[in-house]
Amino acid sequence: MAKGKGFGKTILFGEHFVVYGKTGIVAGLDKGIWAEVEKSTEDEVATNEYKKERMESLQAIKKALGVNVGVRLKNVSSELPAGAGVGSSAALAVAIARAINNEFELGKNEKEICNAAYESERIFHGTPSGIDNTAATYGGVIVFRKRERGNLIKRLKVKKTFYIAIGISGKQGITKELVAMVRTKREENERWFANVLKKYAKLSKEALGALQKGNLVKVGKLMDENQVLLREIGVSTKELEEIIDIAKKSGALGAKLTGAGGGGCAIALAENEEKAKKISEAVKKAGYGSFYSKIV
Ligand code: MEV
Repeated sequence: MAKGKGFGKTILFGEHFVVYGKTGIVAGLDKGIWAEVEKSTEDEVATNEYKKERMESLQAIKKALGVNVGVRLKNVSSELPAGAGVGSSAALAVAIARAINNEFELGKNEKEICNAAYESERIFHGTPSGIDNTAATYGGVIVFRKRERGNLIKRLKVKKTFYIAIGISGKQGITKELVAMVRTKREENERWFANVLKKYAKLSKEALGALQKGNLVKVGKLMDENQVLLREIGVSTKELEEIIDIAKKSGALGAKLTGAGGGGCAIALAENEEKAKKISEAVKKAGYGSFYSKIV
């Protein structure tokens, strides 16, 4: 029997735009998912929730890791809300890949674990950029760019620790559908979309610099600007906007949706734990789920 863990994630900058080759910045959460596996006579999922999805995920990962014997997924324990845009499917895929790697002493490296988790993500999300499984594998703050010949994955040295308060809208956004919706909008109006991408490219470059310098005020301002673009492509919702508004009024330096949108979560930047707690409590008071996480 062996265990493995995958980190939850929050996209600080670039959801949807990463699908079109722009640079995303993603942070691993201090919360994640654990999976426990053991060698078995056949593939088996011994958990009651999401049985079908977990079996598909298990088999895609096994194939990617080159495991031909039966594997029993014994147990899954999660600290992450499902379908909320904090990368629970990717975190689970990484957890399973790591557990299999440990159980069979395969000696796979981080890149191979990340790639195996991507195969699972493909089942659920169609043509994912790979940003979620990358964050779930490496943790910390990562600069990500989808590329034809190997994605760019670079750890970002962030000068200051910061906190992210997460508000859960209570509605589930379906990544595959949202990505397809954005693609349709882009096809309908290519000039408009190219202009949105151009604005995003500029702000993400500034965000990299601001994070490296530890200029959190600027990072917050750029998160607000990123949210304007996400609103423009139609992936924000009334609930996400309300969470963002509450967070800003409670002292957040910036706030935006995170993940695919259409529901899911919004994140708010706080310079310390006390402020993150205050934001989180205000979001909860308005009836939404919330938690906060230290980043870096
Ligand atoms: C989902 O967490 C992030 C999206 O950009 C999709 C992807 O990158 O695959 C919406």
